Amino acid sequence: MKIAVLPGDGIGVEVTAQAVKVVRAVIGNTRPCEITEAPIGAAGVAVSGAPLPPETLELARGADAILFGAVGGPADEIPDRRKRPGAGLLKLRKSLGLFANFRPAFLFPELIGASTLRPEIVSGLDLMILRELNGDLYFGEPRGVTRDADGKRVGINTMRYTEDEIARIAHVGFQTARARRGKLCSVDKANVLETMQLWREVVIEVAAQYPDVALTHLYVDAAAMQLLRDPRQFDVIVTGNMFGDILSDAAAMLTGSIGMLPSASLGTGHRGLYEPVHGSAPDIAGRDIANPLAAILSAAMMFRLSFDWPQAADRIEAAVRAVLADGLRTADIHQPGTQKIGTEAMGDAVVAALRRMA
Ligand code: IPM
Ligand code: MG
Repeated sequence: MKIAVLPGDGIGVEVTAQAVKVVRAVIGNTRPCEITEAPIGAAGVAVSGAPLPPETLELARGADAILFGAVGGPADEIPDRRKRPGAGLLKLRKSLGLFANFRPAFLFPELIGASTLRPEIVSGLDLMILRELNGDLYFGEPRGVTRDADGKRVGINTMRYTEDEIARIAHVGFQTARARRGKLCSVDKANVLETMQLWREVVIEVAAQYPDVALTHLYVDAAAMQLLRDPRQFDVIVTGNMFGDILSDAAAMLTGSIGMLPSASLGTGHRGLYEPVHGSAPDIAGRDIANPLAAILSAAMMFRLSFDWPQAADRIEAAVRAVLADGLRTADIHQPGTQKIGTEAMGDAVVAALRRMA
């Protein structure tokens, strides 16, 4: 197992260190594994002038799985878009053809009080947002800021999807729904945008091959409303890159803490990139208070999806649940009656729980 570890910036560094600790504890000496670290994001710019240094891209290409932390911070504002930390992540997703981004939102029963929504709205919440990751406004050309005939500045981005790109993510959506509760909701803006009209048409064409999956459609504005009104109506949501970016943050917050949610990005093979849904949180970086559980749960997804080792994934998830049941909490999910601990201590607690279960 070749694992590339790209901690990135801010709390990415701290939470990834805990995930690596857990990965090593699970593997022990049962299987050969090679774990190599490389910089990305602002850390990449610092060492090589680029947010995705060529050596980092090569390492990722040669790996079976990538454990990614987070990128970003003050450098997000620098004028040259290609040197912003986020550009490194976008280039990595695109270069490796990681087009299918799985962002689950589920509620641990222990954390029901942490949501900003009432318990009866979110209890038992378990949905999957499947976000297309290689197309849309993120990559469409033309793009840029130019001048019109009067010398006034004009900003341009292009929403672009080919039918093949839509069909390939739709297939993943139907297959994901089939393996869950059999419901797929496709989110678009077909009432206004031609690209999204094509999106809906192609999703309906692909649906013919999945008669066992119940397909529905929502416009993105209505989907945002329904996510807050009655999130449990959803099983799998499939949507484009831009809408998926927005809806997945909203969905993450339903569970109380974005610090709990893992994600996986896959292409056509088994290689995947695993990252916590949260960002680099520069405001709390370096203080040993970030929640490492999203990064640790991302490592569980890695064992399940890239290494076809579901038992390892199950063990990590059970260890996380055991730690929560013991009342241990980082600051973001801390409530009266539970014990507040730091990032390192949380990683150690998960490793200890793993050992107890072994
Ligand atoms: C995400 C992030 C990224 C995105 C940024 C960091 C480029 O918000 O993974 O959701 O917009 O895709
Ligand atoms: Mg985002």
